[in-house]
Amino acid sequence: MNQPLTNKLALVTGSSRGIGAAIAARLAADGASVIVNYAASPQRAAAVVDAIRKDGGAAEAVQADVSTAEGRKALIAASDQAFGGKFDGRLDILVNNAGTVEFGPFLEAKEGAYERHFDLNVRAVMELSHEAAKRMSKVGWGRIINIGSAFGEGVPLPGVAIYVGSKFAVNGFTRALSRELGALGITVNGVQPGPVNTEMSPEDGPHAPLMISRTSVGRFGRVHEIAHAVAFLAHPHAAFVNGENINVDGGWLA
Ligand SMILES: NC(=O)c1ccc[n+]([C@@H]2O[C@H](COP(=O)([O-])OP(=O)(O)OC[C@H]3O[C@@H](n4cnc5c(N)ncnc54)[C@H](O)[C@@H]3O)[C@@H](O)[C@H]2O)c1
Repeated sequence: MNQPLTNKLALVTGSSRGIGAAIAARLAADGASVIVNYAASPQRAAAVVDAIRKDGGAAEAVQADVSTAEGRKALIAASDQAFGGKFDGRLDILVNNAGTVEFGPFLEAKEGAYERHFDLNVRAVMELSHEAAKRMSKVGWGRIINIGSAFGEGVPLPGVAIYVGSKFAVNGFTRALSRELGALGITVNGVQPGPVNTEMSPEDGPHAPLMISRTSVGRFGRVHEIAHAVAFLAHPHAAFVNGENINVDGGWLA
C-alpha cells in the first residue's frame, strides 16, 4: 500500500465528525499518526479513532477547546505524549478544521457572536499555526492546511457577514503566512469547501436549494471530497504548492 505520510504526526482540529473526521481518516489511511481533536463529544471521537484503527491506521483522541489559549496549550501538550511520546516536540501536519457559523441577519447577531466566530475560526488557526511552524521549522518540513470556505472568497447570500469576515481572514492569513514559511520547507495552503453535507450544513436545510443552484455540479459535496484535497496538499509531492486556497465547491466560484 502506498502510504506517503508514514512517520508523520498529523493534528486535525474538530475531527470527531463531519469534514474533520473524514480528513483524519484519510490522513491515517495515507500513513500518518493522527490526533483526533474534539471539544465535547468523547463517544464520537472514540468512534472515529476506532474506525481508523480497524482499518489499520494510528489515531488517538484528545479533548481540547481550541478556541481558548488553555485548550490550545493542552492540545499541544497531549500531542507530545500521544503515541507513547514517539513524536514529542514534533507536529508535521496541522489541519485547522474546527469552525463555527451562526446564520442570521447582521442586525440580529447574538451577543458574543464575534468572539465565537473569531476565537475559533481565526485566532485558533493563527495560534496553532504559530506553534506548528516553530516545530516544523526545526525539522525543515511541514504542512499547514487551513479549512476556510467558499464564503472566504465569494458571498452568494445574505445572513453570513460575521462568518464571511472570519473566513476571508483565514484566506488572507494562509496566503500571507506562506510567504514567510515557504523557504523553511513548510507549505501553508487552504481548502475552501462549498456546501458539504454535514451537521453544520445539511443538504436538506433551508438554504440548500439556493446553494445547490449556485454550483455547476448540481449537488452538495461529500466530506471525503474535501479530505481528498487535504491529502493532496499534505503529500510530500505537493511541496511546490504554497499559498494556495483550493476551492472544492462544485464549481460555485468558477
Ligand atoms: N459543511 C460545509 O458546507 C462547509 C462549507 C465551507 C466551510 N466549512 C468549514 O469546514 C470546517 C468543518 O465544518 P463541518 O461542516 O464539518 O462542521 P461541523 O459542525 O459538522 O464540525 C465542526 C467540528 O468542529 C468541532 N469544534 C467546534 N468547536 C470546537 C472547539 N472550540 N474546539 C475544538 N473543536 C471544535 C465540532 O465539535 C465539530 O467536530 C469548518 O471550518 C467549516 O467552517 C464547511
